[in-house]
Amino acid sequence: MSSPFSLANSKAHQEEYLRWRDAKLARVDSAYKMSPPHFYGIIEEGKSPSKKELNSIIKQCDDYSLSVYQIKDHQSYDIDQTKRIILSLANKLGLNKLDGNICAGNDSLTSITQTSHAGQHEYIPYSTKRLSWHTDGYYNLPQNTINSMLLHCAQAAVEGGESKFMDHEIAYILLRDENPDYIRALMQADVLTIPANILDGKVIRPAQTGPVFSLNSQGQLHMRYSARKRNIEWKQDSPTLEAVAFLEKLFEDDSCQSSSSNSKYIIKHTLKAGEGLICRNVLHCRTAYVDSDNPEKKRLLFRGRFYDELPLAVTENNT
Ligand SMILES: [Fe+2]
Repeated sequence: MSSPFSLANSKAHQEEYLRWRDAKLARVDSAYKMSPPHFYGIIEEGKSPSKKELNSIIKQCDDYSLSVYQIKDHQSYDIDQTKRIILSLANKLGLNKLDGNICAGNDSLTSITQTSHAGQHEYIPYSTKRLSWHTDGYYNLPQNTINSMLLHCAQAAVEGGESKFMDHEIAYILLRDENPDYIRALMQADVLTIPANILDGKVIRPAQTGPVFSLNSQGQLHMRYSARKRNIEWKQDSPTLEAVAFLEKLFEDDSCQSSSSNSKYIIKHTLKAGEGLICRNVLHCRTAYVDSDNPEKKRLLFRGRFYDELPLAVTENNT
């Protein structure tokens, strides 16, 4: 199958990559000039999103790998109703197979809030601390690859909690333009290992080795990545280590705020109540935040990690 992601050393393959790359950058460059939030799908009635609204989200995910949406009537629903309509929204977009992790039931979205429940106390996502760059499920087995992710905000923090996103296709382009060997290195099947997760002497997740970049069944790019420094093993060859350093530099660029740097590709947005993100498991991180002292007002997000790939169009069955 012909693919822009082929690294075959032929003129035709290189031209195909350049065509895809140029079209992608042209789309992104014009969209990213819009004032934030850059991609906004408005859903008038959370309970019954229209086919047009769903298609707008799918189109944005196809173009930019992510879509930020806002549910206009979100204040009409309580927490349980919100959780149900968000799961229903995911189902209407073709996302049905939820990943179950040790902190979530298999059939529901995970509530992300500051907590110290047994089994959650060591996990930064459930604390107010900064969360470093990653894609979701980088420690999952290949059969449990997270192809799509949804994050919905039911209640924002008092202060902070800004999310940052980077389209993984843009990361691929920046790496490949710098040095195609970086991509070759990151596509190696043994390039990234996450050691086993052992809690109280029990292996709750075995070690997981796999590539950073791979292709899904629709021929789209998938990325598996974590910027964490501990409990991560990178293959010790020069192109891999240089590629990893390049990615780290890419995320560091964020602090220099230069519009000419690659930081222009980092989307920053603090999700407000009623807003959410649907994406093809893009790179993301989150700043630290200050939570309310009132238990009723604590930051609360719902997250769904799905094995399904977002379709290229909404099907009649889903609407
Ligand atoms: Fe995440």
